[in-house]
Amino acid sequence: MRTSANIRRWSSNCRLSSMLILYMPLLCSFYAYCEARDTLKQGEWISDNGETLVSAGGRFEFGFFSPTGSSGNKRYVGIWYHEWDNRTVVWVANRDSPIINANGVFNLTEDGELMVLDTTGKVYWSTNIGSSCPCNRTVTLTNSGNLVYEDYGVLNNILWESFNTSTGSDTSTDTLLPGMDQNMYLYLTSWKGSDDPGKGSFSLGKYRSSNKIYKGGNIYCDRFSSDQMDAKLGNLSRDFTARVVMGFSGKLEYWRWDVKGMNWSLIMAEPGNKCAVYNYCGNYGVCNPDNNLVCKCLPGFKPNAPEKWHSGDFSNGCARNSMSCGENDMFFPVHAMSWDDKDSNLKRVPVKDESACKTECLKSCDCRSYSYDNDTNNNCYIVTQDLLDLQEYAEGSNSFSVQSISVRVAISDIGF
Ligand SMILES: *[C@@H]1O[C@H](CO)[C@@H](O)[C@H](O)[C@H]1NC(C)=O
Ligand SMILES: *[C@@H]1O[C@H](CO)[C@@H](O)[C@H](O)[C@H]1NC(C)=O
Ligand SMILES: *[C@@H]1O[C@H](CO)[C@@H](O)[C@H](O)[C@H]1NC(C)=O
Ligand SMILES: *[C@@H]1O[C@H](CO)[C@@H](O)[C@H](O)[C@H]1NC(C)=O
Ligand SMILES: *[C@@H]1O[C@H](CO)[C@@H](O)[C@H](O)[C@H]1NC(C)=O
Ligand SMILES: *[C@@H]1O[C@H](CO)[C@@H](O)[C@H](O)[C@H]1NC(C)=O
Ligand SMILES: *[C@@H]1O[C@H](CO)[C@@H](O)[C@H](O)[C@H]1NC(C)=O
Repeated sequence: MRTSANIRRWSSNCRLSSMLILYMPLLCSFYAYCEARDTLKQGEWISDNGETLVSAGGRFEFGFFSPTGSSGNKRYVGIWYHEWDNRTVVWVANRDSPIINANGVFNLTEDGELMVLDTTGKVYWSTNIGSSCPCNRTVTLTNSGNLVYEDYGVLNNILWESFNTSTGSDTSTDTLLPGMDQNMYLYLTSWKGSDDPGKGSFSLGKYRSSNKIYKGGNIYCDRFSSDQMDAKLGNLSRDFTARVVMGFSGKLEYWRWDVKGMNWSLIMAEPGNKCAVYNYCGNYGVCNPDNNLVCKCLPGFKPNAPEKWHSGDFSNGCARNSMSCGENDMFFPVHAMSWDDKDSNLKRVPVKDESACKTECLKSCDCRSYSYDNDTNNNCYIVTQDLLDLQEYAEGSNSFSVQSISVRVAISDIGF
């Protein structure tokens, strides 16, 4: 009988009294009692009939599920909390290839391959490690929520693990759990929606300590409104009740399980305000989260697309009222702002004072702004790009920040 042959390892979670163990062969026909193992060996599998793996310690569970709120005919294989909340899924294997109206199997085959397939043999997911047997492979769900596929035959060799969030991994998850290695590259990819774990448009990319949220391939938020988020991410391994999720609506969320309330509470999320969204007000638009109207154009500038601007879509930004360039142009200083300095054309000129910096800028129509900083060796920056991602208040900014940028405008445009 497949069922009893298949279940060889019992975890401490199998709450059977010693008396009941006498009736084990009988009870094993009830999955409810027999699902609590944490490991599969070669030639073992779990089917989509309620069989699961439960980590020794009981915190996590692995098996087939349909996302909460979905119609239930799409089946995925994943990891969720067993101890607390089985609706919160932290990892999904076949996230872009659900099994539809078929009976799924998660199989560690006789020749050592790990895959999700259906009863017709169609493969939905596999680690693509291949088989190089003779081997002695197992797959284990650990109590930190890591699915570990290893070959004991070769020196405790980990072949693959769900905790690996390296860039490029096609099993990327949306959730960071305590204990995941954050010294490496880290890459989280959001779900498509609350009921669709497929790869969505938002991702968190991290290298060393710099966290950025991307939308498609573009930066969506590189300036967290609170430096607490970076600190919390760094501290995650100290907080075993926490998880961090790259949400499908573009927010990076830090959640903690509230033992008293028996629910998750959202501790913080980034971007924490509209101005933390990269270039929210468009080029030459200035963002201030404390204003009623969050975006305004710099003096001498007007919205590029007035209708969109007035309906709250600032993405087109602002343009100079007149495009002419002259020797008598004025410079409008904007103070205590941060701005994006990803421009490789930013030219640094050593000058003796600010007026020499201004003169330097007026020499060329390409100079659209300058920034003079007398704190550090009288540096004069000639800015030939449009100014983007302007912030009126730049707390905890990762971007280059300066005391002031002076933006070039025609005299006629600022009403002199
Ligand atoms: C979660 O628990 C509920 C109630 O016990 C059960 O109906 C549901 O199938 C479980 N969900 C998963 C994914 O195991
Ligand atoms: C799992 O793979 C083995 C091959 O190693 C195969 O014999 C078995 O039928 C598969 N199980 C299912 C349920 O498909
Ligand atoms: C496979 O590995 C386990 C754990 O190390 C060991 O107990 C078992 O004897 C090994 N089996 C074979 C066939 O080598
Ligand atoms: C993580 O996965 C990447 C590619 O998917 C692989 O190159 C790397 O070796 C893996 N790292 C670990 C620690 O397994
Ligand atoms: C990080 O951990 C240290 C030491 O436990 C603690 O003092 C600090 O407040 C934590 N930081 C955050 C942001 O939680
Ligand atoms: C969590 O539970 C507490 C206490 O029962 C309750 O006050 C709070 O509103 C709940 N939070 C959510 C998000 O449901
Ligand atoms: C920089 O220049 C301003 C204006 O001339 C002056 O008030 C300030 O003291 C200068 N700072 C330094 C460090 O020289």
